Amino acid sequence: MKGQTVLITGSSSGIGRETAYRFAQEGATVILTYHKGKTRGESAEKRCRKLGAAGTLLLHLDVKDNRNVREAARKIKRKYGSIDFLINNAGTGTFIPFLKQTPKEIERQIRTNLEGLIKVTRALLPLVSIGIINVASVAGKEPYEEMSVYCGSKFGVRGFTQTLALEHPRLRVCCVNPDQVATRLSGYQGRPPEEVAEVIFRMASGRIKCQHGGDVDVCDFI
Ligand SMILES: NC(=O)c1ccc[n+]([C@@H]2O[C@H](COP(=O)([O-])OP(=O)(O)OC[C@H]3O[C@@H](n4cnc5c(N)ncnc54)[C@H](OP(=O)(O)O)[C@@H]3O)[C@@H](O)[C@H]2O)c1
Repeated sequence: MKGQTVLITGSSSGIGRETAYRFAQEGATVILTYHKGKTRGESAEKRCRKLGAAGTLLLHLDVKDNRNVREAARKIKRKYGSIDFLINNAGTGTFIPFLKQTPKEIERQIRTNLEGLIKVTRALLPLVSIGIINVASVAGKEPYEEMSVYCGSKFGVRGFTQTLALEHPRLRVCCVNPDQVATRLSGYQGRPPEEVAEVIFRMASGRIKCQHGGDVDVCDFI
């Protein structure tokens, strides 16, 4: 990955942050983004430099904000011209019975996990030279109780990814589907986020082959 530039959305914590570290270890240039966690984003960027990243850039990004998405794309274009990989990782979830989900909670999940991912892809696609990896979920393949809205968003991510792949046969486009991972989103229950980062890294480096537009389930590889 030396010499390559990778953008990882939502890299101020959890899976995104570990993914940034994994690429940094291999000497990639890493573009990190944070939403509310500026301090966490800054320390993640610092650690990427320590781990050996060829370069780093930290951006504020709210994937729900059209202007913010456009500005982030503009800054990346100005600084790097192009990127090798876009890793759409930013996400959120509210895990409660459907009738308890407020309209705001529904909006936040759909707008972040699905609409935001699609809009970031729309803005960055012209800059991507090798591939796009979308962090979906096993909850995008089968239903889980009390995860109705989250499942809806992640099923959507997989549908979007499959269709994007049809339109862009020369890019590598696929989903990675973690099961439960010990991050803020899951209440720190599950497998270490480093394991998901490793799978994403192997997908990008070509060591894990993925059908175009298809799925890589983390549990099949770790
Ligand atoms: N943990 C699991 O069990 C699990 C399982 C399957 C899939 N996933 C998926 O993995 C991805 C990463 O989640 P995680 O588990 O690592 O959770 P996490 O630790 O809560 O990290 C979420 C990241 O997304 C960012 N983010 C949240 N809302 C955003 C927005 N509107 N715009 C831009 N960035 C935003 C957060 O930024 P700030 O912290 O700076 O606000 C943070 O960096 C998500 O797509 C999630 O659905 C997680």
